[in-house]
Amino acid sequence: MKRLFVLLSVAAAILVSCSKTTDGIIRTEVPARPAGQTDMLGFAADPIDTVRVGFVGLGMRGPGAVQRFTHLQGVKIVALCDVLPENVEKCQKTLREAGLPEAAAYSGDTDVYKELCAREDLDLVYVCTDWSHHVPVALCAMENGKHAAIEVPAATSLQEIWDLINTSERTRKHCIMLENCCYDFYEMTALNMAQQGLFGEIIHVEGSYHHCLEPFWPEYWNNWRLDFNRTHKGDLYPTHGLGPVCQVLNIHRGDQMKTLVAMETSSRLGIPTYKKITGKDIDSFESGDHIMTMISTKLGKTIQIQHDVMTPRPYDRMYQLVGTKGYAQKYPVPGFSFEPEQLPETIDHENLSGHSFVPADVRDALMEQYKPGIVKEIGEYAKEVGGHGGMDFIMDYRLVYCLRNGLPLDIDVYDLAEWCCLAELGSISIANGSAPVEVPDFTRGGQDKIKGFSYAFAK
Ligand SMILES: NC(=O)c1ccc[n+]([C@@H]2O[C@H](COP(=O)([O-])OP(=O)(O)OC[C@H]3O[C@@H](n4cnc5c(N)ncnc54)[C@H](O)[C@@H]3O)[C@@H](O)[C@H]2O)c1
Repeated sequence: MKRLFVLLSVAAAILVSCSKTTDGIIRTEVPARPAGQTDMLGFAADPIDTVRVGFVGLGMRGPGAVQRFTHLQGVKIVALCDVLPENVEKCQKTLREAGLPEAAAYSGDTDVYKELCAREDLDLVYVCTDWSHHVPVALCAMENGKHAAIEVPAATSLQEIWDLINTSERTRKHCIMLENCCYDFYEMTALNMAQQGLFGEIIHVEGSYHHCLEPFWPEYWNNWRLDFNRTHKGDLYPTHGLGPVCQVLNIHRGDQMKTLVAMETSSRLGIPTYKKITGKDIDSFESGDHIMTMISTKLGKTIQIQHDVMTPRPYDRMYQLVGTKGYAQKYPVPGFSFEPEQLPETIDHENLSGHSFVPADVRDALMEQYKPGIVKEIGEYAKEVGGHGGMDFIMDYRLVYCLRNGLPLDIDVYDLAEWCCLAELGSISIANGSAPVEVPDFTRGGQDKIKGFSYAFAK
């Protein structure tokens, strides 16, 4: 009965939100931009001398962000908020140990973030809650005149995505998704190499989130994550795989996602995992064990994204760039291959062919030669501070740098939308026999306004 109800609800949601046309492509509604509102492409806010930040959600992920911010110049940690007071206290201890004053504390219920957002002395609200609270907190922050930074995936439905876009456009506040994998040393270096043409034209990319969450399931607050997987289909965590490769393809900066198709295995592991973690018997588990999404772009390129948090396979984000003259992959072993003439003269060309990976010493020399300026500047310190090997710190550093210098952020609200939409669009495709579903133009006509992905720097 419960399963029938879920299926009927999904069917009802699909009926109201999308329509199939004669070309067989399912389209979802693109709400008209409200009058008087303009896009946020290239948006830069006034510079902020000292970025005053409040953190909401201090479970497993949030405290690391607080700790990283204690290492940043030009920030002030003003407020800490979590439902559980002990989680706030844990972060107060981090501040004391860093020699910083304690922050204002908010705890006790799931609405107390509203008081934090209403404070006059805040510039940025940094959201690390479970997924169901990302959007309410971020909307409240922007409505109260603060920029919002949201953990991944920032939004889990099209309605949430459009709410974030419309609120960001209307309030003229940044709404950034904290996609740390865009700041991984390998991904940043390969992006630089791709932008300099080493791989020729990139025509196909792949990314994934293969991470067996077995050890983590019991740790989530109120079992939110396993429950979300139990009740939803589509790729629920696509952004680690998708973010970095979209930057390579210049998505909404010259190219554009057009349609996607998704398919999944049935769920073999959901029900037994749920029983093991909660002791409860359930009769359905929506999310398949392995989900694949394939996306085509306006310029005739393809993207493949995979999701698997169930099977005991090693951690893997794939990160593959397939170019007309070269190839890069990060997993399982980082490697490059090239047409030999692609390589700079500083590299030894002996025994190179496009049929095999370049030797490790050539790979390492390329990684050094194409290390981006940001990594040169902050990479070693980021490794010391930590957070997934340093990439989390580079992400925070860039966010604060851009806010302090009044620059456009590296990741805008349309990136957030494109990288998060795979969940609901994928579930529509799966529910319709893997039919193609149009990826909406979240910029509503601004896809070619920015020419290519780049990081902004102060002059
Ligand atoms: N980027 C990454 O590498 C990465 C890694 C881990 C987690 N995450 C993301 O970080 C977020 C948090 O994950 P987690 O592992 O810390 O989960 P968690 O369950 O450990 O922590 C969530 C915390 O949010 C608090 N919370 C929930 N609703 C709240 C509200 N309304 N107000 C205040 N506090 C509230 C809970 O009390 C809990 O402490 C998720 O979005 C997750 O996807 C990202």
